[in-house]
Amino acid sequence: MPTLLALETSCDESAAAVVRDQRVLASAVASQVEEHARWGGVVPEIASRRHVEALPGLIEQVMAEADVGYGQLDAIAATAAPGLVGALLVGSVTGRTLARLHGKPFLGVHHLEGHLCSVQLGEPLPPGPYLVLLVSGGHTEMIRVDGPGRYTRLARSRDDAAGEAFDKVARLLELGYPGGPAIQAAAAAGDPARFPLPKGRVSLPEGGFHPYDFSFSGLKTAVLRLVTQLRAEQRPGEAFPLADVAASFEQVVADVLVERTTRCARDQGLETLVMVGGVAANRRLRQRLEQRCGELGLQWRLAPLAYCTDNAAMVGVAAEQRLLAGGVSDIRLAVAPRLALEQAPLLYGAPAPF
Ligand code: KG4
Ligand code: ZN
Repeated sequence: MPTLLALETSCDESAAAVVRDQRVLASAVASQVEEHARWGGVVPEIASRRHVEALPGLIEQVMAEADVGYGQLDAIAATAAPGLVGALLVGSVTGRTLARLHGKPFLGVHHLEGHLCSVQLGEPLPPGPYLVLLVSGGHTEMIRVDGPGRYTRLARSRDDAAGEAFDKVARLLELGYPGGPAIQAAAAAGDPARFPLPKGRVSLPEGGFHPYDFSFSGLKTAVLRLVTQLRAEQRPGEAFPLADVAASFEQVVADVLVERTTRCARDQGLETLVMVGGVAANRRLRQRLEQRCGELGLQWRLAPLAYCTDNAAMVGVAAEQRLLAGGVSDIRLAVAPRLALEQAPLLYGAPAPF
């Protein structure tokens, strides 16, 4: 039963956690959301500086809460890719320095592998391969998982990620950043059927449409057009139908994600569907997925709400899995802004690939 300290600093959440045996002993996240909100999105330079400020306190906090000393740790892990380079470097350098100081192995972790592992912090998964819908601010992908570290990507968004669509639509509705929670709140009392919006299909060169791939940029443009039209038609003193626009947008995103993912699971003969990532926190999407899986006789597991958005507990679980399989990173492993999930094993090779 290894015990690990894990760090996550790939974007705008600074996070530390102590995990043991796929369980969280302590987990803390310091969000920088308010800081970035005034700029309408993440400012990389600010993100790096805030990580430097927040991380030492978070590490102290989780080590104390878990009641674990450095001597009791079996390894130290930090997200190494993909993400903002300056932000990633803060966690990576901190993790590698602590590992060196205390004579512990270091593991660099692939951020998406972390998200995939977040579901293991909930109810146990049924046996057998499963299909994961990974929906975050940077990625929208379907990944078949055949076992620890055995991934095949079956679909992706051709343009914006689902979270990016939430963030962009929130901006044009003047709801602020991050868009997901803001749209969810605005949509709560709205009518999701009031404004029909397009489902963004991806055409194939040979004709027809891709059965699973997503496209969200057209949807964003459609919402912009709708908002412009509604504002032009708005009479003095009449309220803008914000709740209905937000609910209609949320509904079409949920429908398209759930429709294509359940279709892919059935085509692939996969009986379990898993959903992870920041957008997986969305209430309407969670309900729609549960309902559709129930109708189709598929099993489902959703990442626990607390571990959908970026956190270090999921990074710790991924690192523990790698450690148990004999994976340890070269202490010189740096960070990479981009790295395909299938290339995660590179993080455990020597010499370090970057
Ligand atoms: O996984 P995550 O924390 O960071 C990335 O790895 O990208 O995901 C952040 C994304 C943001 O785009 C945010 O707007 C979205 O997740 N998000 C949500 C909700 N909470 C966060 N989207 C829809 N509904 C939510 N409740
Ligand atoms: Zn993430």
